[in-house]
This record gives sequence, structure tokens and C-alpha cells, in this order.
Amino acid sequence: MSTLYGLVGYPLGHSLSPLMQNDAFKRLNMDAHYEAFPIEPVHFESAIGELKDKNIQGFNVTIPYKVDIMKHLDEVDPLAKAIGAVNTVVNQDGRYIGYNTDGEGYVTSLLKAVEGSLSQKRILIIGAGGAAKAIFYTIAAQHAPEVIAICNRTVEKAAILANELPFSTKTAAMSISDAEKQLDTFDIIINTTSVGMYPNVDELPLALTLLQKEAVVSDIIYNPLKTKLLKEAEAKGAGTHNGVGMFVLQGALAFEKWTNVRPDEEAMEHIVLSTLT
Ligand code: ATR
Repeated sequence: MSTLYGLVGYPLGHSLSPLMQNDAFKRLNMDAHYEAFPIEPVHFESAIGELKDKNIQGFNVTIPYKVDIMKHLDEVDPLAKAIGAVNTVVNQDGRYIGYNTDGEGYVTSLLKAVEGSLSQKRILIIGAGGAAKAIFYTIAAQHAPEVIAICNRTVEKAAILANELPFSTKTAAMSISDAEKQLDTFDIIINTTSVGMYPNVDELPLALTLLQKEAVVSDIIYNPLKTKLLKEAEAKGAGTHNGVGMFVLQGALAFEKWTNVRPDEEAMEHIVLSTLT
């Protein structure tokens, strides 16, 4: 019988993961398939039990279950534990182990765009939710930026995140308007909020008035591929980086954890882009 993999979250109507992962299985001639399992919150616990009964070999976890899934696992890897969220689960001989590939997927993609390292860079993250935390922890754990500042609509959440980092990286927390006033001091600006995502494509998470053309502006959104934030950054001559790479690489890293085979990332990106453009 074909090996079962999948995605749990709610709602899942928009997800491109089944298309991308099934294409990767097919390219490698693997007898496996990846299904979307939209699970309503009231059924979450029983549905996870049913997936385990079906001997699911691995699954991705998305909103709103990246935190709740952890209590149903036998082990959570240290980075995922520090981030406080799991997006990938591996069935290892009947033991369910949680990982977080969002941060690594994002940072690997960003490194291609900035053509170098993040060492000594001054980084501004917009947002203080789950995605911000995964990116913030991964950069701090694996790179050596000069500073990572977090700005957020709710500034208290930015302060909590900035203060709880278990690494020696210098951090700062500020309001969006304070970040706008010192935007010229940052090398890399990363939007982790949903502001500017389809259908609200005319929204901007932060004004780029003081943006330097040497800076890179990154948005984890991939629908649209070019958000208003990226369009404005491009108009100012700055570098830009969108969320497609993060989406593809978090999936490729999950695939590798499940199968011990590295899938063809370019083919994965190609199939995702073909549905977005
Ligand atoms: P995710 O897991 O995708 O990061 P999340 O944990 O709900 O989602 O976090 C969403 C982030 O986007 C938060 O930083 C949120 O700001 P608040 O903490 O003030 O809620 C931010 N965000 C969402 N909608 C926003 C909006 N319309 N304007 C500004 N920030 C917004």
C-alpha cells in the first residue's frame, strides 16, 4: 500500500503543499502520497489519533495547530521547542517526532537573495507571531547578525519575543512607527505579518520612506509574488525577496526528514510558481 503523508490544519483550501509534495514523490518514483487533512478544531485530538492509526509516516502542520500538535508527540527537537511551534512531524518506528523547518527554509532562501552571510547584518523583523519567532530564532541560532530588531503593531509582543531569546544576539523591540523612523539603519527588512497578502494587496506593513537602496526587503508572503511592500522597495532600488523560497524549502526539508532523500527543489519551485503566475 502507498505510504501516507499529509498536512493538518484548518482551513486548508488554499494549500499548494499536496501538489508540490506529490509531484516530488512522483519524480522519485516513490510509492507514497500526500493528502490534505482539514481538521476542525473540535475534532483535532481524535483526528490525530486516526492519522496515527493509519500509520501516517509524516505530516506537515499549519495554522492553527503548530503549537497544539506538540502535546501529541513523543519528542520535539530542541529548535522547534525553543521556537514553540512544530510544522513537520516524522513517524520514526511508531514514535512521532516534531521539527520546525519554517525558519531554516526561510533563512536558506534569504541567503540566496542576499548573496552572502547574515553575519554583522542589522536585521528588522516586522511582526511577532509564530513565523517571526521561527525566523528570529533560526537567524540567531545559526548566524551572527549585529542586531535583530522586532517591530510589531502590538509592541508588547515584540518586547516579549526580543527578551526571551536564548542566544547572545543583540535584540531590540520597537513600534512600527519607530522602526519607520530608523529604517535607514537596517540592512535587511523582513515582513512576517499577513499585511499585503491576497486579497488585501494594497496594504503595507510599514512605510519605506527612509529605505536605503543597499538594503534588501523580504516578505514571507507568496500570494501575490510581489506584494506592495516589495514593489515599493524595488521602486527605491533596493533588493527584494519573496516567500516562495521559504514555502518550497520548508517543504523540501520536511520531505527529506520523512524519506532521507533530498527532493528536486527547483522542480518543486517550478510547480508552485506555475500555479501562482
Ligand atoms: P503567524 O503564525 O503567521 O506569524 P500569528 O502568530 O497570528 O501568525 O502572527 C501574526 C502577526 O502579524 C502578528 O505580529 C500580528 O500583529 P499583532 O501581534 O499586533 O496582532 C501581525 N498582524 C496581523 N495582521 C496585522 C495587521 N492588519 N496590521 C499589523 N500587524 C498585523
